[in-house]
Amino acid sequence: MTAGRQQQRVFSGIQPTGRLHLGNYIGALSVWAANQARYDNIFCIVDLHALTIPEAIRVETLRAARRELAALLLACGIDPARSALFLQSYVPAHAELAWLLACVTPVGWLERMTQYKSKAAALTTVGAGLLEYPVLQAADILLYQADLVPVGEDQRQHIELARDIARRFHNLFRPVFTLPEPLVRPSGARIMGLDDPTVKMSKSLAEERPGHAIALTDSPERIRNAVMGAVTDSGRELRPGELSPGVANLLTIYEALSGRPRPDVEAEFAGQGYSAVKRAVADLVVSTLDPIRRRYLALSADAGYLDRILREGADRVHPIARATLDRVKRLMGLV
Ligand code: AMP
Ligand code: TRP
Repeated sequence: MTAGRQQQRVFSGIQPTGRLHLGNYIGALSVWAANQARYDNIFCIVDLHALTIPEAIRVETLRAARRELAALLLACGIDPARSALFLQSYVPAHAELAWLLACVTPVGWLERMTQYKSKAAALTTVGAGLLEYPVLQAADILLYQADLVPVGEDQRQHIELARDIARRFHNLFRPVFTLPEPLVRPSGARIMGLDDPTVKMSKSLAEERPGHAIALTDSPERIRNAVMGAVTDSGRELRPGELSPGVANLLTIYEALSGRPRPDVEAEFAGQGYSAVKRAVADLVVSTLDPIRRRYLALSADAGYLDRILREGADRVHPIARATLDRVKRLMGLV
């Protein structure tokens, strides 16, 4: 922790692309919201990260998508009185520090990133921004001297890279950054697809396959259909100790949303038929998401309020980012 600060600082970010799903909620947003009182929190809508595959940019919807994401984050319980919420592109220090850090980051480190490898493999032309994506992410985190970064399992590697970049900067120049730690929940940090429990629930697969994910704004009926259609196995009733991936995923969702210990959940469902298990999971998902959807609908009607929250968030964080950037520039001989 940086001297003089009372609380540890949390930083996390999320892209304004695609529809947020239950995996995002369990792995990231619910953790952000639940820990707000314990930490000094900064949450960022990372619109610059949304540009790394230019063919996929939806120019006409990106502006509105940022505001919709703000509404959804507030609906999930992010409290602007406790947490700064802002748009990455409003604070130019992110792009500036990303360049300075790119100059100290070996390309080999970036080429080893799992997310880069899988995204690049699907493209005919790979933009330099896709490779540099984790450097911008490191800049996001390091600018605010964040102690903790709450993310899902798939982002752990990027947070470790941010630490490595910070250490390399310290060796080449002088210590200036707090080394961040990933904050990954022990269970629920990797929710799997309902239609295929061998792949992670993801925004991109959700666009292609209707039964894959539950969107946070889905109606109760859609949620029930998706859960009742989830892939399980050829067995009929639940046997703890012999859970197939699909059944284990349903129990993980139940465990995360109920907050109950896993052994209790397994004991409760032991011997029950899969459709009874699914009904219980569907009920819990509906009762969790329905209030979020209602708050989202109310908030998204108030563009003026959302713009004000984002503006105030940027005003709050800007001086912190500025102070780090100035120190880095001084250490590199620019000031
Ligand atoms: P993304 O969907 O890549 O924009 O991710 C936003 C946040 O949600 C990140 O912290 C991810 O690690 C987290 N996340 C994404 N998918 C899942 C999932 N299937 N299970 C748990 N967390 C996830
Ligand atoms: N790369 C993250 C994701 O896809 C989003 C992100 C950008 C982020 N900057 C960040 C997450 C900084 C944590 C900290 O989910």
